[in-house]
Amino acid sequence: MAALDGRVAIITGAGAGLGAAEARALAAAGARVVLNDLPGDPLDEVAERIRADGGEAVTRPGDVADWATGEALVKTAVDTFGGLDVLVNNAGVLRDRMIFSMSETEWDTVIRVHLRGHFVTTRFATAYWRARAKTTGRPGYARIVNTASEAFLLGSAGQPNYAAAKGGIVALTLATARGCLKHGVRANAICPRARTSMTGELMGPAPTGPDPMAPERVAPLVVHLAGPSGERINGEVFVVHGDVVAVLGPPTVRAVFHATTGEWTAAELDAALSTEFDADPPHPGFVCEETLPLAESTFGEGS
Ligand SMILES: NC(=O)c1ccc[n+]([C@@H]2O[C@H](COP(=O)([O-])OP(=O)(O)OC[C@H]3O[C@@H](n4cnc5c(N)ncnc54)[C@H](O)[C@@H]3O)[C@@H](O)[C@H]2O)c1
Repeated sequence: MAALDGRVAIITGAGAGLGAAEARALAAAGARVVLNDLPGDPLDEVAERIRADGGEAVTRPGDVADWATGEALVKTAVDTFGGLDVLVNNAGVLRDRMIFSMSETEWDTVIRVHLRGHFVTTRFATAYWRARAKTTGRPGYARIVNTASEAFLLGSAGQPNYAAAKGGIVALTLATARGCLKHGVRANAICPRARTSMTGELMGPAPTGPDPMAPERVAPLVVHLAGPSGERINGEVFVVHGDVVAVLGPPTVRAVFHATTGEWTAAELDAALSTEFDADPPHPGFVCEETLPLAESTFGEGS
């Protein structure tokens, strides 16, 4: 029996790139899949390929950030396949620009597709799982895999909209992981890297032979988190590409200062914080660059 036999999964942005690879991998692991993307041919092609490989797939095109699309995706899963067990939030777009040049539309589009797009589907999926748990009297099988990015860890300078949306997705993942655990939900986030239409210009053409940057290298972790093995994993954030899977630690408290009189004065605060910040020139402090060397085995030196 395959890991996801009998399970039903929704995958957003499944018409191309990572979403298509993840949909095929989930179907190959036995899941019956509901595929979402913007209306167009590629989504049908992904569904047809899954069916040709012996899987079951239906499509429900639509803008993932629309309330009606989220509602329709869950309804399609329930009406077509009898339920919902897995939600993979993946759809996304880029509108890169430095913060001082960014237009309102560039900001709103990216926040809307990524952050609202994750919220809308999660809202309807978790409502379904909560109601199911109340009906059966016990938590059921429920998995969410969200798609963040290392851009949020790094404070990606040319992507303030994208970094903010991805940071928001991590926070949404943690709140969902905490808020829906008792209903059976396991919610985790991945920060993938792969050669897709989103990154092709940056990464260049694929090499002849096996591509360490192929989206198919990311899909096994999504299957793992969606499968029975994901039962004990909740509220975690992974970096995944090539042959690398890394799990991030939580942010830590770096230093604590107490006012000697119980209340800070400006002078006392100046003196206390100068010990922490005066030694080095200003630089972005609250970033995590530890994941960058991990990419060298996938993307080569200087990545
Ligand atoms: N490729 C990478 O290296 C990388 C790195 C970090 C994060 N990610 C994230 O992975 C996810 C997938 O990216 P990808 O690289 O496969 O890109 P991609 O452009 O190949 O695929 C994204 C898909 O999302 C769809 N989409 C866009 N807006 C949509 C909307 N409003 N409703 C429904 N579908 C919509 C697109 O049509 C497309 O098929 C994104 O969330 C992206 O931010 C990718």
